[in-house]
Amino acid sequence: MTASTVITNIGSLVTNDPARVDPRSDPLGLVADAAVVIEGGRVAWTGPAADAPATDNRIDVGGRALLPGFVDSHAHLVFAGDRSAEFAARMSGRPYTAGGIRTTVAATRAASDAELSANVGRFVAEALRQGTTTVETKSGYGLTAADEARALRVARRHTDETTYLGAHVVPPEFEGDPDGYVALVTGEMLDACAPHARWIDVFCERGAFDGDQARAVLTAGVRRGLTPRVHANQLGHGPGVQLAVELRAASADHCTHLTDADVDALANSATAGGPGTVATLLPGAEFSTRAVYPDARRLLDAGVTVALSTDCNPGSSFTSSMPFCVAVAVRDMGMTPDEAVRAATDGGARALRRTDVGTVSVGARADLLLLEAPSHIHLAYRPGVPLTAAVWRGGRLLLDHQPPAQT
Ligand code: NIG
Ligand code: FE
Repeated sequence: MTASTVITNIGSLVTNDPARVDPRSDPLGLVADAAVVIEGGRVAWTGPAADAPATDNRIDVGGRALLPGFVDSHAHLVFAGDRSAEFAARMSGRPYTAGGIRTTVAATRAASDAELSANVGRFVAEALRQGTTTVETKSGYGLTAADEARALRVARRHTDETTYLGAHVVPPEFEGDPDGYVALVTGEMLDACAPHARWIDVFCERGAFDGDQARAVLTAGVRRGLTPRVHANQLGHGPGVQLAVELRAASADHCTHLTDADVDALANSATAGGPGTVATLLPGAEFSTRAVYPDARRLLDAGVTVALSTDCNPGSSFTSSMPFCVAVAVRDMGMTPDEAVRAATDGGARALRRTDVGTVSVGARADLLLLEAPSHIHLAYRPGVPLTAAVWRGGRLLLDHQPPAQT
């Protein structure tokens, strides 16, 4: 029999548990003065501490807040090289363009597997220290069949949530022949990558791939058993969001420039029976490219499911910090702290079509973030402050900065 442990004296518990959530008044399904029982790596019980059942072990967290570990559903972690000079140039007025990706492609192709894997490991550990317990990562800086497959193999050492993004940008050797590159992405490269990926993505944007090319890429991936997600409407209006909904993509990511028809399409995406298309907002990208933020309020008011993610990548958003994204979303994108925390946990899980993470409810994986704070509101209220007190993944205490009392 596996030992049971109660985490008790939780000042404020975020559950996202459908049985506790009230979409209007309590989107997080909060429980005050709470306890959580974990057993066999899963959540076995939640509720008021006074009602907790007897367990083998007991951890008293002294009134701190506990929430589900963050689910970062959009990151690009397999890369080498540095683009800090490009960032500095941007901060003195140069615009962000899709073409910067090619700088990272050259550095990534030149790196060894060991270097790439060490980089991914470093970013996953960095994210964990900030409370992220599930992270997705994409290829997209290899752009040959061999380099994309290798990126996904390396990524798989660190996460099951791997995304084939061969259609990130047309590489230099296909300059002037984008259709030739799309043929590679949908043919030999897909064959090499599909065994190592769960998802397929495309950067549907001026300067990257147009609507027809994006459709060809995504439908080829679907035929190989991959599920689509789309970089859509980041730098300007375009067909990406509508295409994502039409192809039943799990998410449309960025969603910065939307028409009313785009918002309607996202809002109605779940009505056709499937789980729908989540709008994944990536405030780190607008922050680091000094661009206008997406309007989360407009999406939420229309009934769209929203996720928040880091987009961690060396060009447009070199942050692995979900608390940073929560703070920006609250300050500048019209989200309440409750909505932002929900989007960074359950929202990310929905974007990855996962039901085992993103909530603290019976049966969920015991992925938990203990804050050095009395409530989740402090994530936005105390921007830039390292608030991680402890992190559990699958019931195992992985990080313990501020040791809770164990008895
Ligand atoms: O999501 N938009 C496309 N890809 C990344 C940027 C990649 C880069 O600039 O290296 C993004 O922002
Ligand atoms: Fe991205």
